Amino acid sequence: MWDKVQETVQFLKNKGIVNIDFGIILGTGLGNFTDFVDIIQTIPYEEIPNFPVSTVSGHHGELVYGKVGEKIVLAMRGRFHYYEGWSVQQTTFPVRVMKYLGIDNLIVSNASGGVNAQFSVGDIMLITDHINMIPEHPLHGANDERFGPRFVDMHEAYSKKMRNHVLKVAADKGIKLQQGVYLALQGPTFETPAEYGMVRSLGGDAVGMSTVPEVIVAKHMGMNCMGLSVITDLGVEGIVAEVSHEDVKKAAKLAEKSMGELVTAFVKTY
Ligand code: HPA
Repeated sequence: MWDKVQETVQFLKNKGIVNIDFGIILGTGLGNFTDFVDIIQTIPYEEIPNFPVSTVSGHHGELVYGKVGEKIVLAMRGRFHYYEGWSVQQTTFPVRVMKYLGIDNLIVSNASGGVNAQFSVGDIMLITDHINMIPEHPLHGANDERFGPRFVDMHEAYSKKMRNHVLKVAADKGIKLQQGVYLALQGPTFETPAEYGMVRSLGGDAVGMSTVPEVIVAKHMGMNCMGLSVITDLGVEGIVAEVSHEDVKKAAKLAEKSMGELVTAFVKTY
């Protein structure tokens, strides 16, 4: 893994992918973010040695390198999910690469089902913490100390400093931000009403199928993380309705403009 990461890092550095302030994983809901980036170059995943290539419709696969104001960002347009058949080590490989490109600050976004009755479809939730229920752990197996320690502290998986700053940015811009715990399940099925109830009773505010492995790996390497989740459907008792990937994408569109503006303003001012 170490050698593969270094090979990929060298490939990208040779292409001029350097001096990056923020790594950003664009999930459903932040797909338009690259509209806010002065793009310097894009690199399709197929061209990058050792990169997995995503298969889900609506998830493209390229790295976008560019400027947001004075800051330089490297955004992943298209991410990898455990349910696609990748191991969680494979889905998190790009985060390892980001670290050795010199990135310390990671922003992750996703779509999720809200199980907190205070939430509405189209809300943005700032992830305050997570619960990992994906059945594979990205740090399972022998630990490579060059990446990080065997036992990783997770008391502040989502940087308080970044959270405080984004809350301030959201308040300044008049963007409503919910806050809560993101619980990750393997998918790809959406939850049954009983499962949404389980997520709630376990302490989740929203449930999704991504993000947590990436944040674990980022924390393993000492990165700071911020997570934003668009609530695309509700799994609240009594109102669980049918949900499809199309519904999720449509609902994510509702929040796209606010998400784009929020992350852009955050990156410019953090
Ligand atoms: N459950 C799991 N993942 C999701 C959901 C959901 O309800 N909505 C968007 N991603």
